[in-house]
Amino acid sequence: MNSKKYNMWLQYQPITDTKMIEQYQYFFTKIGVLSEGLQVQAALDELHAAVPQMLDAKFTVSNDALNSTIVIGNRNDLARFLDSEQQAKLADMNDEAFLIASNQEQLIIAGNSDVAVLYGVHHLLRLVQLNEDIAQLSVVEQPKNQFRMLNQWDNFDGSIERGYSGQSIFYQHNQFVEDKTRIKDYARFLSSVGINAISINNVNVWEEETYFITKKYLPEIQEIAGIFRVYGITLYLSINFGSPVTIGDLDTADPLDQSVQNWWKEKAKEIYDYIPDFGGFVVKADSENRPGPFTYERDHADGSNMLAKALEPFQGKVIWRCFVYNHLQDWRDRTTDRARAAYDHFKPLDGRFHENVILQVKNGPMDFQVREPASPLIGAMPNTNQMIEFQVAQEYTGQQIDLCYLIPQWKEILAFDTHIKGTGTTIEEIVAGNIHPYKYSGVAAVSNIGDDENWTGNTLAQANLYGYGRLIWNPSLLSEQIAEEWIKQTFGSKEEVLNTIEDMLLNAWGIYENYTAPLGVGWMVTPGVHYGPNIDGYEYSKWGTYHFADRDGIGVDRTKETGTGYTEQYQEPHRTIYNDLDQVPDELLLFFHHVPYKYTLKSGKTVIQHIYDAHFKGYEQVEGLIEQWENLRNYVDNERFANVQDRLERQLDNAKEWRDQINTYFYRKSGIGDQHGRTIY
Ligand code: GCU
Repeated sequence: MNSKKYNMWLQYQPITDTKMIEQYQYFFTKIGVLSEGLQVQAALDELHAAVPQMLDAKFTVSNDALNSTIVIGNRNDLARFLDSEQQAKLADMNDEAFLIASNQEQLIIAGNSDVAVLYGVHHLLRLVQLNEDIAQLSVVEQPKNQFRMLNQWDNFDGSIERGYSGQSIFYQHNQFVEDKTRIKDYARFLSSVGINAISINNVNVWEEETYFITKKYLPEIQEIAGIFRVYGITLYLSINFGSPVTIGDLDTADPLDQSVQNWWKEKAKEIYDYIPDFGGFVVKADSENRPGPFTYERDHADGSNMLAKALEPFQGKVIWRCFVYNHLQDWRDRTTDRARAAYDHFKPLDGRFHENVILQVKNGPMDFQVREPASPLIGAMPNTNQMIEFQVAQEYTGQQIDLCYLIPQWKEILAFDTHIKGTGTTIEEIVAGNIHPYKYSGVAAVSNIGDDENWTGNTLAQANLYGYGRLIWNPSLLSEQIAEEWIKQTFGSKEEVLNTIEDMLLNAWGIYENYTAPLGVGWMVTPGVHYGPNIDGYEYSKWGTYHFADRDGIGVDRTKETGTGYTEQYQEPHRTIYNDLDQVPDELLLFFHHVPYKYTLKSGKTVIQHIYDAHFKGYEQVEGLIEQWENLRNYVDNERFANVQDRLERQLDNAKEWRDQINTYFYRKSGIGDQHGRTIY
C-alpha cells in the first residue's frame, strides 16, 4: 500500500520550496555509511525511500567519508570525524543520543549506538519535510525517557480490545498474518518518533494467547521480534499469570511454590533461546477477572518477583500493571472507592520489588477518562521502578470517531507537580528517572492502530500516535509544536491547512469535554462499549452510579472528613486543595466533591448552568469543526478529506445525543431550568 492515508507522517512529498531545494539536492547526493549495524541499514533504507520522492534524485552510497556530503555512523565508527567537543557532548549522553552537525559542505550524523543513527536520520528527514535549513546544524538530542513503549491490545482472533481502526495487523483468525509488510511499516513509523519497546498482545491474555510462550508460537514471535529489532524496538509479551496451570501441568500458579518458580525459569530459558533480546513480560494480574497472586493469598510483590527472578539471567523485565481494583464493589457503600485502589494495593509494597520489575501506573486513578486528576501513586514509591501508562486509543474520548487530540492532556499530567520530594517533583521528572533512583522507568501507552488503510480510523487520530512518540522523547515540546510538525509532514505546509488543522486539534479535547461528562466526574458512557451517553450506566454492578447524582446534587465526595478519604493519597498542597471546596479547580470539582446543583463555580456559574452551557456549546463547537474542515476541501486529497468529514458528521450526532441526554437528565433531576431559556429535550 502506498497511499497518502497509509503513509501517515512519512509522506515524503516532493519539496517545492525553491529556496531550499538546491541545498537539499546538494546534500543528498553522496552518502557515506560508516557503520554496518541493522539499524544503520534501516536508516539507509529510509533514505532510499524518502530522497527520490522528495527530491526526484538518487544518491550514491559508499564508506568514503571524506568525499561524502552526508556521513552517518555510530560514535565509534565516526570517531575520526568528530571534534573533541562533539565527542564530549555525545559521551555525556545516553545510548540513544545522536548528533547532527553540518556546514556548507558536509553533514554528519553520529549516534551513540546504531539505533541512535536511525533516530538521527529520521530527525534530518523531518527537518527536510519541514523545509528547514540543514546547512548549519548543530543538534544534539537524547530521549528524556528510557522506556518509550506501546502496548497493543490485539487478540489472536484478530480483534483488538478497544480497537477503533479495524482488525489486528498481527493476527487474523487465530493465526499470525502471513504478509508482514504492515508490521514492518508500523515499526518504521514507530522508530521515526523514537518508540523503543512494544508488547504485541492484549493485557487480557485469553485461552490461545496463553500459548504464545510455547514452541507452538515462539517461532512466529521470533520472526516479529526480528522485524522490530531492525528498528530498535524491543519485543515484549503479555502473559497469563495462571500459565503454569493452563499450559503447564502444574496444579498451582502460587508464586512461592518451588515447582511454579522452576516452571517459569524453564519458560524464560525457552523464550530466550528463540529471542535472545526478548524484553520481558507485561502482566495484568488480579484485575477484571484475570488470575494473579491473590488467588494464593500472596501479594503483587510475590507475584512479580517470581517472574522477575526467572527473567533476570537474560536481562528481561517484568512490567507489572497497577490497574488492580475490585470491579464488583458496590458503589452505594461509600467507604469503598475505585480511585483509591492502585495506591492502596501498591504503596505498602514499596521496596519489595526486584530491580527488574517496573510498575506501570495509569495516568489517572480511574481509567483514561476525559478528565481525571493525576494518579497519586506515581512517584509515591521511591524504591520501586515505575512507568506511567497513557492511552493513545481513545476508549473514553471519542474512539477515533470524535476528534480528540490528546497531547495537551498528557502534557498536563506530565507537568503535575506531585511535591513528593518538594517543589519541582513533576511526573515528567519522576518517570524520566530523575527524582528517585529508578533503574528503569518511562512511559507506555495503549496503541490506537489497526488494519484500516489509514491505521487509525480517523486520519486526524494519527496525530495522537505521532505526538505520543514525540512528546515522550522530549516532553518540553509544546502541543502546538507537535501539531505543526505533524500537520506539515502529513498534509503539507500551506498556511490555510496548517492554521485550520492546528486550531481544530488544539481545541478538540476541550470540545469533547464540553459535551460529555462534566467537571471531572467522568464516565456516563454506555457500559461495555464506552461510546455515547448513558448517564447512570455502570459497568459491573447494577447498584450505584459513578456520579451519585440525586435530586439535590451531584459528585463524588472523596474528602477526608465526609468522603472516601482519597484526597489523603496526595502530598501537600494537593491534599488540602483537592479536599477544600473553595480551592479545588472547577474542572475537577465533581471528582472530589458532592455539591448542590446551585453551587457556584469559580467561573461564577452554578454547576447546573455550567452543565447546560457546556453542552450547548460543545455541540456548536462540533458544528464549527465541520465548517473549518469544509474550508479545506480544495487543499486536502479527496480520500483523506472524506474520511475526516465522515468522522466529524458522526461526531456531531454523538455530541447531539450527549447534549440532549445530559441536559434532559439534569433538568429532570434538579428541576432547575436553563437561565437562557434554551429548549431542553
Ligand atoms: C479498561 C478497558 C478494558 C481494559 C482495562 C485494562 O477497563 O475498558 O478493556 O482491559 O482497562 O487496562 O486492563
